[in-house]
Amino acid sequence: MMNFSRAVCSTMTVMMCLMVAGCSNQPLATSAAHLPSRAPDARSKKTYQDLIVGYVQLGAESEWRTANTDSVKEAAAQLGVELRFSDAQQKQENQISAIRALIAQQVDVIGVAPLIETGWDDVFKEAQDAGIPIILVDRRADVSPSLYVTLMGSDFLEEGRNAARIMSTLTDGHANIVELQGTRGSAPANDRYAGFREVLKDYPGMKIIDSEDGNFTVAKGKEVMRAFLKAHGKNITALFAHNDDMALGAIKAIEEYGLRPGVDIQIVSVDATRGAFEAMIAGKLNATVECNPLLGPDFLELALKVVNGESIPKWIPSQESQFFASQGADQLKQILATRKY
Ligand code: AHR
Repeated sequence: MMNFSRAVCSTMTVMMCLMVAGCSNQPLATSAAHLPSRAPDARSKKTYQDLIVGYVQLGAESEWRTANTDSVKEAAAQLGVELRFSDAQQKQENQISAIRALIAQQVDVIGVAPLIETGWDDVFKEAQDAGIPIILVDRRADVSPSLYVTLMGSDFLEEGRNAARIMSTLTDGHANIVELQGTRGSAPANDRYAGFREVLKDYPGMKIIDSEDGNFTVAKGKEVMRAFLKAHGKNITALFAHNDDMALGAIKAIEEYGLRPGVDIQIVSVDATRGAFEAMIAGKLNATVECNPLLGPDFLELALKVVNGESIPKWIPSQESQFFASQGADQLKQILATRKY
């Protein structure tokens, strides 16, 4: 049951949010005044050991996702944060139920990696009304900025643009491209799709001849690539996969079809996982655009700042790089040795 002070706090918060929204149309930073929760005064600042944090993970569909889960769990264990973790197994309804359970438990902060962009308004409003801040981790949700404190994660649009730029260099501006999209309706799939096309407009010789949902998994990537090959055969000269897992599945399909991945079909994907490095070292993947899953420490630092009423930017983008088979096996092996995922 919600206690009195939390209920009062929540009502005040809603009012404050409305005031903030009324004063400015630039929701760039979340200030202490915007925060719903029990922002303590200087004498009672919380520490990591005081925190109870929920993390609503969307599933375990990819190597990236597993690394993200590990990062959050490891950081919580190291810092002494009490973590209440749930895995929604690729179902938005499971994520919504998990958020409601965390609200009932009156945790301090809830981190959410939203499966898809839409459908979050009601449950985020419930969290806000209960005085519990939401931090979006990894993926955007299509809600009013007043319903979450901050988004930490990658610039997916730029990842899509970078994939297209790399592809244009690899193919000298001439390609028949097939595309494996990530989970339909998810922020990374939407943005990588859009960013890729934005850059391709400048390359009339590069055509997307087919594009399907591969759900960010190895198995689906392989299945859809097999169908692409059946439909288009040797006409396919390039593949853009929205993540490495789908690219790895597609590589198997290409080999089974009798073509050489990375040679007959140029392949660019996203994430820069261990599997992608191994494929580049083997010459089967041409390039990968990094998407950093190691968000655990920063997430918990933000959670602590939020409960202590500190001001936080509305978006905290990840710093990311790109890697190429053309760097050579030796260099790639050295880089891989320094990476956690
Ligand atoms: O939201 C990040 C994306 O989700 C990663 O690119 C993908 O591998 C994961 O499943």
